[in-house]
Amino acid sequence: MDIAVIGSNMVDLITYVDSMPKEGETLEASSFEMGCGGKGANQAVAAAKMGSEVLMLSKVGADMFGDNTIANFKKYEIDTTYVEKVNGIASGVAPIFVDHDSNNRILIVKGANQHLLPADIDRAASKIKQCKLMVLQLEISLETVYHAIDFGRQHGIPVVLNPAPATKDLDFKSVCKCDFFIPNESELEILTGMPVTTKEEVREASLFLVKKGVKQVIVTMGRQGVLWASESTVGHVEAHDVGAVDTTGAGDAFIGCFAHEYVQTGNLKESIKQASAYAAWSVTKRGTQTSYPNRLDFMNWKI
Ligand code: RIB
Ligand code: NA
Repeated sequence: MDIAVIGSNMVDLITYVDSMPKEGETLEASSFEMGCGGKGANQAVAAAKMGSEVLMLSKVGADMFGDNTIANFKKYEIDTTYVEKVNGIASGVAPIFVDHDSNNRILIVKGANQHLLPADIDRAASKIKQCKLMVLQLEISLETVYHAIDFGRQHGIPVVLNPAPATKDLDFKSVCKCDFFIPNESELEILTGMPVTTKEEVREASLFLVKKGVKQVIVTMGRQGVLWASESTVGHVEAHDVGAVDTTGAGDAFIGCFAHEYVQTGNLKESIKQASAYAAWSVTKRGTQTSYPNRLDFMNWKI
């Protein structure tokens, strides 16, 4: 087993819009797509598509969305032993609106994801301990995230925390226990209260976190590339110049590919470069998981 993803799954309900309706207004939108999403699931699928063996811990509702999500994980050979149904609760869903400029607005209804509990991690302990990396996001309860971080530490499993969606309630002491902290720029802004418009500002905000004890900050900045900072180094890679169609799930593509590459090579900079290219591919296609390439297609991609 390579990677344990402990987190969410959602059904993405993506509407491609020309503009958003005002209050009381009915507007026609150009198209709609439904697909498997959720930040945890997306990251798991990206890593699996790249060839990692992935263990998923997640909760689905006892509805048709739940069955579909489990089948989807299986399609990518993700271990679903601990993807469990919660009776009487709906699966998580995410109504998403993508505009002409390929930007997205996302609502999440966590549903069953709220029911992934610290005890679920303990039950899966023997399998998680076989993993070389743990990947976490914030679409499940914070209590469970903190327990997972402590579990990782206790058993020497490096932890990647993607603080998405960002919340000011996030306990900073727990963040400092993680090996990799990977926000995008808007999450960095919420978490530090600092401006993040320019690369220089992102650098300042990242170094602020490093000074406060975060080990390795990696900030994904869309068109502005990726910046990383630790006590010893600060680095940056430019973004790939691609025609963006749908940026939904690009951050998750980055995390999943980064996790895969890092487990394989242990090389931070190379893993960031690969992950950045992988995310670039994903924005050229519609949808979230459906826009992630598999290993072979990605390796043959010439940009
Ligand atoms: O990061 C993109 C994801 O955010 C979507 O798949 C949606 O489900 C929300 O969780
Ligand atoms: Na996409």
